[in-house]
Amino acid sequence: DKGNHRHFMEKEIYEQPEVISHALSHYINFIDHRALTVSDGIDFAKVPSLAISACGTAYLAGLIGKYWFERYARLPVEIDVASEFRYREIPLSPQSAALFISQSGETADTLASLRYCKDHGLKIGAVVNTRESTIARESDAVFPILAGPEIGVASTKAFTCQLAVLAALAVSAGRARGTVSEQEEAALVKSLAEMPRLMGQVLNSIQPKIEFLSRELSKCRDVLYLGRGTSFPLAMEGALKLKEISYIHAEGYAAGELKHGPIALIDENMPVIVIAPHDRFFDKTVSNMQEVAARGGRIILITDERGAAASKLDTMHTIVLPNVDEIIAPMIFALPVQLLAYHTAVFMGTDVDQPRNLAKSVTVE
Ligand code: M6R
Repeated sequence: DKGNHRHFMEKEIYEQPEVISHALSHYINFIDHRALTVSDGIDFAKVPSLAISACGTAYLAGLIGKYWFERYARLPVEIDVASEFRYREIPLSPQSAALFISQSGETADTLASLRYCKDHGLKIGAVVNTRESTIARESDAVFPILAGPEIGVASTKAFTCQLAVLAALAVSAGRARGTVSEQEEAALVKSLAEMPRLMGQVLNSIQPKIEFLSRELSKCRDVLYLGRGTSFPLAMEGALKLKEISYIHAEGYAAGELKHGPIALIDENMPVIVIAPHDRFFDKTVSNMQEVAARGGRIILITDERGAAASKLDTMHTIVLPNVDEIIAPMIFALPVQLLAYHTAVFMGTDVDQPRNLAKSVTVE
């Protein structure tokens, strides 16, 4: 049932504050601001490293997870798309653990990567939406994302719930490893707890601006997304989402890579969507934006209030979000990214919930 929504995708985007809140309640204690230790299958305090593998949007969630596990838990992470991971003959230590992220829990390449790690003696964790799935069944520890059924082929709420779970796990691993202090844990968990309310606030306020910009995007042939830090995987997720439902060609790049190639593409016909919360990378991303502007590129800047005040650039448009703590920025910034893809596809009249050539669950390699 789509409720009042035109598509399942729209419904699932708007469900995010509620499902994230539900997911978080499984991983954090909202009252004393602690990250719960939810796994007896994997001892994050002891593992020397973590391998992560997944496909598509789940892979991009894993890539953001890598930033968190490395930063908060000081845990080195090896990550690759499952179709490469399974055949790379990666040397893996049996003391390590591996995480597989999958909405469906049935993706063939992800499952094959899981079995590869199992054969090498690693402890296996599954970050899944479908608990009765093959990937969940074959794992030592299951971390449900509790997003509820996701019907739209383009993943939205599963992505942000995967992120919420990975963030909570990284904080909990940091505590276990002594790399996150009790005070830091409390601050991080408070930020996570704020997320559902902030998501609701964003969803209630950005629609008119998004619709306006989506009308512009629907006339374009190519779109470039840029970001640094955790905004880099989010840039790739934005490009993936736009490609799969609007069929517009899009690329997501690390902003620092711009001058190593993609800058050659910049002209007035290719909008550049810059994802830049006012974090420690902000000034660097702004200077990349200046390079785009100097070549006649049209910029759509997605930032927060501090970023909007600090960037004096003549950007084409700015989407301004509330100021949020760094750990929740990827989930909050995912909302305009998802909505831009959604409304662009609606303007183009594509089959949003069932885009051509795609299946919700990819059970063949
Ligand atoms: O069920 P999974 O999470 O394992 O699926 C992985 C990908 O097939 C999936 O995320 C795909 O990229 C989506 N269509 C993205 O919106």
